Amino acid sequence: MFKGLFATKSLEMLQAEAAGENRLRRILGPIGLTSLGVGAIIGAGIFVMTGRVAAEDAGPAVMLSYAVAGVACALAAFCYAEFAAMAPVAGSAYTYAYATLGELMAWIIGWDLVLEYAMAGATVASAWSEYFNELTSILFNWKVPEYLSYDPFSRADAIFNLPAVVILVIVTAILVVGIRESAFSNTLLVVIKLGVVLFIIFAGIGYITSSNWTSIPPQERKTPEELSLASAVSDYAADGEMLSGKAADERIKQLTPIVEGAFTQRRVKAIREELTAEGKFTVETEKRLAARLENARQAMEGDDKAPKDKSIEELLPSPSSKDGKAVEDVLARAKETAKKKAVEKWGMIAEVGLNEYLAPFDESTRSNFTPYGFSGIMLGAALVFFAFIGFDSISTHAEEAINPQRDVPIGILASLLVCTVLYMGVSAVITGMQPYPDIDTRAAVAAAFRQRAEIEQSGVLKASAALIAAGGLAGMTSVLLITFLSQARIFLAISRDGLLPQRIFAAIHPKFRTPHVSTIVTGAVTAVFAALTPIQDLEKMVNIGTLFAFIVVCAAVLILRIKRPDAARPFRCPAVYVVAPLGILVNLAMMLFLPMATWLRLVGWLAIGLVIYFAFGYRHSALRQQN
Ligand code: ALA
Repeated sequence: MFKGLFATKSLEMLQAEAAGENRLRRILGPIGLTSLGVGAIIGAGIFVMTGRVAAEDAGPAVMLSYAVAGVACALAAFCYAEFAAMAPVAGSAYTYAYATLGELMAWIIGWDLVLEYAMAGATVASAWSEYFNELTSILFNWKVPEYLSYDPFSRADAIFNLPAVVILVIVTAILVVGIRESAFSNTLLVVIKLGVVLFIIFAGIGYITSSNWTSIPPQERKTPEELSLASAVSDYAADGEMLSGKAADERIKQLTPIVEGAFTQRRVKAIREELTAEGKFTVETEKRLAARLENARQAMEGDDKAPKDKSIEELLPSPSSKDGKAVEDVLARAKETAKKKAVEKWGMIAEVGLNEYLAPFDESTRSNFTPYGFSGIMLGAALVFFAFIGFDSISTHAEEAINPQRDVPIGILASLLVCTVLYMGVSAVITGMQPYPDIDTRAAVAAAFRQRAEIEQSGVLKASAALIAAGGLAGMTSVLLITFLSQARIFLAISRDGLLPQRIFAAIHPKFRTPHVSTIVTGAVTAVFAALTPIQDLEKMVNIGTLFAFIVVCAAVLILRIKRPDAARPFRCPAVYVVAPLGILVNLAMMLFLPMATWLRLVGWLAIGLVIYFAFGYRHSALRQQN
């Protein structure tokens, strides 16, 4: 029954396919390919995740996280380049696995790439929604109501993420109708996006205070407890007061600022004492702590700002009142969750108990620049890795390259290099403009400029913030367009091999000449995920799926070097016996920092894939029927 599961497609078959009839048109040169790569790469990662990772996971060392993730991607990129030049067909890692590891593994990777492309689309759409609201708040002082701006897991009071669905519908419609000058519109979006990123770096440089990188003592970092407050409030409303639905939402809204106020007050006191005891308390620290208290106080005063100028102490409920007891209960819950969180940041490493050995190392690597230690840098790398996803989409377009042997490697490596340099620049600016604990975790880049504008009452800065938000939207839109284009190509390659129904995934619209059915299926599924699923979990799932694909590509290149040393290799990965194993190692290390739950979700996703394979692909595989 299992005969042929590991049948491989020979290189010659792939090359014959690439040269055969019924192929995509070869229209992309080196610039077109590089711009495609940059178009797919720069998006939600840099505009949204950088801020969150800086604030909560890595501090200013988010720059190092970018370096680690960049190196991991570069190692994989060399392997992708060798393969893409050898077998320039549309399937990317799926095709490479078919040629080396056999059909079953190829299917697994193909299914895994759906996670990378389609689900990345859902994550980017959700970030798009944040930037859309940021832009409308800057321009019109208006936002889409919160209950229509988030998935119900990220916000207890949310129904679904409307702007995310809207942008996905628009992108799907554009791709179905087919933008005739798609290369041109992509180039235009890429130029706008690059312009905005360069603007952020050059406009931001002037506002960098280098002490934000080097002088904030690690004691001021966000503690696991602080990061657990939101979920503790929801838990309390549900389990402590047995509330649900609207009543729970209202209670959460009312309680959140009070809990945060109480927490901030105690935390600030603790930081003051700790730093004073160590003789490290400075005027700067006092300023930052005062600002934190003031923010918490303003949040407690609420929208109407009724009891003006009351101190936090005056605003806090008395310990014996209902709210006072609620606060204590929530803080106790947060403390409990924090214990788990502190272990969780070690991801799988904690599951095998290695964190105990690494924790002392973590402490010794804690500094003002690396407040969250070694684990923070690595967890940060595993998260900002998202920002690099997309360079491999060039390989899904290899079939359309005029001179794939030369230009696909150039496109992959050039786009990755450009993006890594820009990312380091932007992350330096974001962490230099504001103390990292204060960075807006939702739309960091635009918010950094908006907050500056508020402080300095500057119209120019406000206009800059609007420009950045608009550029972020353009950037993320181009990511969505290319991600969907790539997904359609992968489906096309898989269905040509008979592992997915050709009627759906290879169907071409008679008038528009686009893979309309496959695009609509992708758009619809993605919209559901963007609207309703816990987006941060999905983001980690996309990362783990992509890391897995990178590892397979590194392994596949090695295998083929051994199995077919004589095959023509128009591009050779330099020092492949170092680069490929190192690529496997660094990408695996990042995977290990992702939580157990993410691993289980990956396993679940792959299990669903196996069911589909045995229900359909196994019986329809063209290769196995041929054999
Ligand atoms: N790298 C792409 C982004 O950051 C997926 O949006």
